[in-house]
Amino acid sequence: MTLDKENSINNILEENRIFPPSKVFSNNSNIKSIEELISLKNQALNDPIQFWEYYANSEIEWFEPFQTVLDSQNAPFFKWFKEGKLNITFNCLDRHVKNGLGKKTALIWEGEPGDKIKYTYEELLKNVCKAANGLKSIGVKKGDLVCIYMPMIPEAMFAMLACARIGAPHSVVFGGFSSEALKDRLIDGNAKFVITADGGFRKDKIIELKNAVDLAIESGANKVVEKVIIVQRTKKNIPIKVNRDLWWHELLKDQKDFCEPEIMDSEDRLFILYTSGSTGKPKGVVHTTGGYNLWSHLTFKWIFDIKNDDIYWCTADVGWITGHSYIVYGPLSNGATTLMYEGVPRPSNLGAFWEIIEKHRVSIFYTAPTAIRSFMKSGPEIPAAYDLDSLRLLGTVGEPINPEAWMWYKDIIGKNKCPIVDTWWQTETGGVMISPIPGAVSTKPGSATYPLPGIEIEVVDKNGEKVKENEGGYLIVKKPWPGMMRTIHGNSARYLESYWEYISFKGEKNVYFAGDGARIDEDGYIWIMGRVDDVISVSGHRLGTMEIESALVSHKNVSEAAVVGKKDDLKGEVIVAFVSLEKDINSSLELEEELKKHVVNEIGIIAKPEKIIITDSLPKTRSGKIMRRILRSLAAGEKINGDISTLEDSSVLEKLKGSS
Ligand code: PRX
Repeated sequence: MTLDKENSINNILEENRIFPPSKVFSNNSNIKSIEELISLKNQALNDPIQFWEYYANSEIEWFEPFQTVLDSQNAPFFKWFKEGKLNITFNCLDRHVKNGLGKKTALIWEGEPGDKIKYTYEELLKNVCKAANGLKSIGVKKGDLVCIYMPMIPEAMFAMLACARIGAPHSVVFGGFSSEALKDRLIDGNAKFVITADGGFRKDKIIELKNAVDLAIESGANKVVEKVIIVQRTKKNIPIKVNRDLWWHELLKDQKDFCEPEIMDSEDRLFILYTSGSTGKPKGVVHTTGGYNLWSHLTFKWIFDIKNDDIYWCTADVGWITGHSYIVYGPLSNGATTLMYEGVPRPSNLGAFWEIIEKHRVSIFYTAPTAIRSFMKSGPEIPAAYDLDSLRLLGTVGEPINPEAWMWYKDIIGKNKCPIVDTWWQTETGGVMISPIPGAVSTKPGSATYPLPGIEIEVVDKNGEKVKENEGGYLIVKKPWPGMMRTIHGNSARYLESYWEYISFKGEKNVYFAGDGARIDEDGYIWIMGRVDDVISVSGHRLGTMEIESALVSHKNVSEAAVVGKKDDLKGEVIVAFVSLEKDINSSLELEEELKKHVVNEIGIIAKPEKIIITDSLPKTRSGKIMRRILRSLAAGEKINGDISTLEDSSVLEKLKGSS
């Protein structure tokens, strides 16, 4: 791993405003005061095993009790709640039906063209069981990986839960990824089954998901994929491959309404989810059943202060970890009502989000800073036209939120009465790690505040020494937690190297390195400062520079490419690619456009470079390493600071200054 963003983590931002939770909110909340929170934290600190044991037993139903809370023998391959048997769908569905919540709305769904539907817990259980039986009938067995490549429709949730019901781990691939990206994930996971749709609606367009599945299979995934199940969404005509493709509605038509939940071991895989790292192809982050069930459940309960009559809406896509933990598993495990929306606000309907909040009386709303910034840009009069009084709590996730956007969210959307929970976490952490507890913690705009009970965070330098107050450093997690990733699918060496071997703390090796920079202020508040590795965050979507570079050099006219992130007011960061061309190829605007399109085809629209800079050569050290620090300064239009004596050919700089 290269950590050459080191210089950027010393950019300190001063923010002195502080907002205590209102009395009204605190009095009614699950954790009512900072004293109560501190007492919880102390319990976890003094006896973590007893702490986790208590919550695992009181919040989760087990078919057979666990014997060992935490097994650290083979650390950092930690095991949680060993010998325990459970099924997460039992905790998400059956137990609520059993406890009299069968008629409560579990899912409210809003489709992009305006169609809508609600499912009670009883109905959701029935749909999941039918799908589970359908999957079994075509030979899906415990342990088989099922890829889900779907739009945001209820069947995406049914499919995830149906897999979990029968013990088949799912691998959800975001519907915005291209067929190439899908192919890589299908092959890496060895997915025999794919669940997709004839298409999905997005911004008045149809996303041709089944077509992408066909292309992925034809271009190599035929080695692994045996069956494709298609949900009818758009009703557009699509080619069907006999003996391989099946319609979801036909498969489920005659299936029974109940399917016994598979008895899962606490450490059996629940899902793989691919995410980008600084090197190589995206990695399949593995989460297992017991620990993930507890962590998604408990964090949801603590942070969103959930009550029986809340209507909760998270605007993420189920293709990302936020959708897994906080649209599906966390809310359902708590018996909450969760809302799912197929679309995104579009220029012709910027009020879409507010309209949904007004219509469904949404009380808890969870979205990304990029979305908040885009609403800010279009003006306060748009949300002002809707009744947002039902809101009582607001959350953000995925990227640092600038204080200005935080204040806008609080004033304009929250009408100054809703606490804001800025939640820091990652695909790898399974659930939130740092966040205010809304009834207990005073918030500062732009800070994720404190770690949750049981989570021990430190900010250290390269040598693992704790940095001084307000000094930037690397964010580490010192103790294991139940929702942590267990490994990288098929690559345990990469698991060790990426997360556990970079930093040692007080001689201890087993500390988790998150890849983020942070500082801790005089009040102990944590300020996340962004990635310190070669990962770019575009609108909160994580992309490895190397992935985009590989996509660029796979184009016949490109000989070399280097990609960097550039700060952007709306998206947080955008992608700038420096590209040198093969001999005899001339640069042109058409070629730049073609290269952008090529990256979209290779990865997906989220990876589209904002700018391509064609150059004769790239700045390299004598040992041939591209000096990204220089490219980052050039892309940002900044002066080049720091040592350039290792540059092999300093004339490159002058040329680059001319072309960027
Ligand atoms: O850099 C951090 C940023 O998103 C990264 C994790 O990305 P991903 O695995 O895709 O998960 C996103 C949703 C949990 C982190 O390493 N990040 C996430 N939340 C925040 C954040 N940065 C600042 N503040 C946050 N609240």
